[in-house]
Amino acid sequence: MLTDKLYIFDTTLRDGEQVPGCQLNTVEKIEIAKALELMGVDIIEAGFPVSSPGDFNSVVEISKAVTWPVICALTRAVPKDIEVAAEALKYAKHKRIHTGIGTSDYHIQHKFNSNRDEIVERAVAAVKYAKKFVEDVQFYAEDAGRTDNEYLARVVEAVIKAGATVVNIPDTTGYCLPDEFGRKIRFLKENVSNIDKAIIATHCHNDLGMATANTLSGIMNGARQAEVTINGIGERAGNTSLEEIAMIIKCHRELDIETNINTRKIYALSRKVSNLMNMPVQPNKAIVGRNAFAHSSGIHQDGVLKNRESYEIIDPTDVGVDENSIVLTARSGRAALKHRLELHRVFLDQESLDKVYAGFLQLADTKKDINDDDILMLAGKDRHANARIKLEYLQVTSGIGIRALASVGLDIAGERFEGASSGNGPVDAAINAVKKIISRTMILKEFLIQAITKGSDDIGKVHMQVEYDGRIYYGFGANTDIVAASLEAYIDAINKFSAE
Ligand code: KIV
Ligand code: ZN
Repeated sequence: MLTDKLYIFDTTLRDGEQVPGCQLNTVEKIEIAKALELMGVDIIEAGFPVSSPGDFNSVVEISKAVTWPVICALTRAVPKDIEVAAEALKYAKHKRIHTGIGTSDYHIQHKFNSNRDEIVERAVAAVKYAKKFVEDVQFYAEDAGRTDNEYLARVVEAVIKAGATVVNIPDTTGYCLPDEFGRKIRFLKENVSNIDKAIIATHCHNDLGMATANTLSGIMNGARQAEVTINGIGERAGNTSLEEIAMIIKCHRELDIETNINTRKIYALSRKVSNLMNMPVQPNKAIVGRNAFAHSSGIHQDGVLKNRESYEIIDPTDVGVDENSIVLTARSGRAALKHRLELHRVFLDQESLDKVYAGFLQLADTKKDINDDDILMLAGKDRHANARIKLEYLQVTSGIGIRALASVGLDIAGERFEGASSGNGPVDAAINAVKKIISRTMILKEFLIQAITKGSDDIGKVHMQVEYDGRIYYGFGANTDIVAASLEAYIDAINKFSAE
């Protein structure tokens, strides 16, 4: 049997970007579009050009910046929308207009105050009009999930006759059950006479947590384009996530379907989207969540270390995740602790391991999870102690209504350097003061503050990602003073690239 191709249509920059608070500027959208191209996405929905000048401009610029994927622009079944979309797609090397209209009775009666015949006419007219501008026209039957199958088949047949190359069957409200959605796709395959002239697409929302299941059911019944977003972001509860569909297809070879996705790029792109959109990924999110490959119980950890496949169906490196992501907690065994230390090239004999393990259990009783710095400290290998750059002192003035000021003293290879600066807050001022001493182009990419326990006098942990010379370096700091912890993390990251 020949393996079928599933086209991946990414709508992170359209449906995903509709989420309140997730708006991106054009430069950020181009960055994501280029990463989607590198990952192997077939179609990028770049925006809804008539909706705003910003969206129009983003579609223009993404069209210029991207070469291989088809660039798609959304419209309503309205001539003006279609004209504006065609104009925005002017520079796209491969272009598609995505037009459509609501087909469920809810939409026909309440949204359009219309009737079924008139909606078919409007759908056909929109496709014919879009065909005047581009060859590749995709039609969406909004709320197809709640549209009567006989009527949906009539609409689909009419738009394919009018020239639609792709027919998108959205479960707009995330209502369908997987079996019901699969039967809908099969119904279209079996009852639309010209269905072989178009590709069927799924576009499932996650209101009841069934977006991925519905998409998969659609694929198993004949859909060959899946509309998805990175991290599953999108309207309300979001869309089907790209990473889940790509990995399901990769893991289940028996489906005889393949995608063009380079899955090793998934994790980095997930973080990029999360950072640029200020939208954290839930820790237990399948494939890309912080805990997706983190085994914390001793039994699981021991099993994974003996043979990964005992508890893991995905090799973390297949999605671009480091192999040392096993979380250490009070339930972790010696094997996990030994493994993690060995990843840092710390090899202990049984007696020393027992001692470190005893200290580890004590610490694990008070801290929720134990990081690499903790265990290195327990093993007497405090990496900050041997660092080339050390923080000697930090003084900060900050408050409400004043600009924060910081002065910093650094010991660099035994010599003292001092710097002072202002900033938008105490951490910004302290980092600016370090930059006065070390004048390299360093970009702070991720900044995460965590309290270790609940009291206000407890230690705060800071994790940072700093970009230098095109690479990302991780820094960690822990201190009762959160500004000091932040600066320690920043200096830790600098020490990593200055050591190279
Ligand atoms: O959810 C939906 O129906 C949509 C369409 C515009 C494709 O996003
Ligand atoms: Zn949608």
